[in-house]
Amino acid sequence: MRSNGILSSVGVLAACVASTNALVPLWSRCGGEGWTGETECVEGAYCKVLNQWWSSCERVPVTECTTFGPYVDPNSQTDGLNSFAVRRGKYFGTAGDWIYDDVMNCTWARIASDPSEFGSITPGNSQKWDTTESSQGSFNYADSDQIVAWALKYGKKIRGHALVWHSQLPSWVSTGSWNATTLKAVVENHVTQVATHFKGKMFHWDVVNEAFNEDGTFRDSIFYQILGESYIEIALRAAAAADPAAKLYINDYNVEGVNAKSTALLNLFKRLKAAGVPVHGLGLQGHLISGQVPTDIEANLNRMAAAGAEIAITELDIRMNVPPANQTAADAQLAKDYETVTKACKVTGRCVGITVWNFTDKNSWVPSVFAGQGDALPWDKNFQKKPAYYAIARTLKP
Ligand SMILES: *[C@@H]1O[C@H](CO)[C@@H](O)[C@H](O)[C@H]1NC(C)=O
Ligand SMILES: *[C@@H]1O[C@H](CO)[C@@H](O)[C@H](O)[C@H]1NC(C)=O
Ligand SMILES: *[C@@H]1O[C@H](CO)[C@@H](O)[C@H](O)[C@H]1NC(C)=O
Ligand SMILES: *[C@@H]1O[C@H](CO)[C@@H](O)[C@H](O)[C@H]1NC(C)=O
Repeated sequence: MRSNGILSSVGVLAACVASTNALVPLWSRCGGEGWTGETECVEGAYCKVLNQWWSSCERVPVTECTTFGPYVDPNSQTDGLNSFAVRRGKYFGTAGDWIYDDVMNCTWARIASDPSEFGSITPGNSQKWDTTESSQGSFNYADSDQIVAWALKYGKKIRGHALVWHSQLPSWVSTGSWNATTLKAVVENHVTQVATHFKGKMFHWDVVNEAFNEDGTFRDSIFYQILGESYIEIALRAAAAADPAAKLYINDYNVEGVNAKSTALLNLFKRLKAAGVPVHGLGLQGHLISGQVPTDIEANLNRMAAAGAEIAITELDIRMNVPPANQTAADAQLAKDYETVTKACKVTGRCVGITVWNFTDKNSWVPSVFAGQGDALPWDKNFQKKPAYYAIARTLKP
């Protein structure tokens, strides 16, 4: 079966619906003078005329993919993770980016665009320093502008991520020979430029990411080496000046439970507040392990809230060894773990929302970083909802 549409602007034929025919794979020939083979491309691709003799299957850009719907009306609200969260004054979001596996996949995009499931998008990579300012003073927003425009089109909030981070940092910064004056200027300029570019479009900014070691000491990044703790204040002040409406976050991992690192993060927040530095929130990434979710996560959120911090779970995924020995048991444990995290946010008034780091096991950083692990998300590889999804929904449902 084919469900096609003629796209007025480019005049191509595109298919966004599964077919039983042997359709032409991506990057393969689908037409041109003398071509007698199949002319229809696989899902998510269209047959692009390159010249008189050659047409080739290329990815359907999302603007064209959306033509085929059924994308969910941004104003509709049926039952879903975000619509339940919204009724509690919170949001439920996902990370995503303008890449083939994410928005460029029609299936991904249909679910991610649904406002009942996701009210917020975090650009996973495209706003990071190595993308936005890979060489000094030269700024690039090509990818981030696209995901931002896409998210806004579907009525989503956007968590900006991440302005100052030791990783995915171009070498001109990490290996430059700086003194305090020159590096301060570099940080201020980067934060100012990027936050100004997206001014009014980000509801949160992760201004500083992963500043701490596990023992609660500061990470020995180039920023800390040259500027000491002051780089955090420098970045926050620049972000506040550039985009006064955005809530400014300090984001980190392994800070979900009460431990040395989360205590250091909390103490930093208190020092900044006491000094009148603009800071609003603590981002708890939530890259967790199934069966090992901290039991004191609620107590930790509580003490952060008591200090006046807004809290967001910013990058939630809960990984396990794959394939699990017992799928049923693994699914049940994962559901329980998601419930624990969701409940902690639910009962903490100042916890404003939860973001999962990609929502389907098809698209996750986990297998590439933690060998032998995966299945960390609420939707499986085939975009089917797992018991973990229903556990989140049950927990949030008012
Ligand atoms: C999108 O993801 C679905 C589910 O994995 C897959 O069947 C489909 O081929 C993907 N489409 C593209 C264009 O990658
Ligand atoms: C989602 O997962 C894919 C890998 O499948 C990765 O390329 C992409 O960067 C991820 N997106 C985010 C926002 O992490
Ligand atoms: C920092 O480096 C710049 C450029 O090399 C130099 O002009 C400036 O005097 C230095 N400042 C300090 C305080 O050393
Ligand atoms: C798998 O786990 C389920 C749920 O804990 C249990 O009922 C079942 O007996 C287990 N199956 C095997 C083969 O161990």
